[in-house]
Amino acid sequence: MNFFDSHAHYNDERFLDIRDKLIEDMYNDEITNIVCAGYNLEASKDAIELAKRYPHVFTTCGISPNDITENVDKELLEIEKIAKYEKNVAIGEIGLDYYWNKDNKELQKQVFIKQIEMANRLDLPIVIHTREAVMDTVQILKEHQVLNKGVFHCCPLNQELIKEGLKLGFYISFSGNVTFKNAKSAGCIELVPMDKILIETDSPYLAPEPHRGETNTSLFVKYVAQKIAEVKGISLEEVANQTKSNAEAIFKIK
Ligand code: NI
Repeated sequence: MNFFDSHAHYNDERFLDIRDKLIEDMYNDEITNIVCAGYNLEASKDAIELAKRYPHVFTTCGISPNDITENVDKELLEIEKIAKYEKNVAIGEIGLDYYWNKDNKELQKQVFIKQIEMANRLDLPIVIHTREAVMDTVQILKEHQVLNKGVFHCCPLNQELIKEGLKLGFYISFSGNVTFKNAKSAGCIELVPMDKILIETDSPYLAPEPHRGETNTSLFVKYVAQKIAEVKGISLEEVANQTKSNAEAIFKIK
């Protein structure tokens, strides 16, 4: 089986000393594609360095709502330059986060919108991070057309958000949180047609059951796929294949 982990952070400092061996080993263990997601300028550059070393690693470049500094406008100019790299597949992760940052909502919205416009100029999709900001996120997407659509990464298990996201033509990416025992994930998974689902780990965060609390790696994406297979009543292999071709479609990977 071949799994496509559509979102992981091997640019996180937790992976610094182990990531090369990890990425090589995982490739032999069925993790045949990884998108290493940027979240600020440095992490985006670092993701590109990794993608240059490994044919199966791709990147996103962007500034997350939790990484907005006073230099954000200068940084966005840099992001736009490096995002032209041929294996950069999206602008992301970008969006709104009112859980970690409540005091700069207007600034978050501006930076989100600027990066939607950037994605349109570069002919790329976007990867969205949204936390406790569902309504504002949806409103921005309705008011600012995203030409190449994109992905709700680590999609919150919120049925309204999922419905709106699908209506807008976006993919829904499920992560380890669908495996948590108290999660109302089945109803959310049922809502999403198989050709709109991606799977991800968001490593090193959010390790799925039965590894909750450990450092996450792309190997654990199988547990996310397994949960989807259970809910949809299909085989693990079908989930692996379909989510891989979905990721290749939205990220235009041949
Ligand atoms: Ni992430």
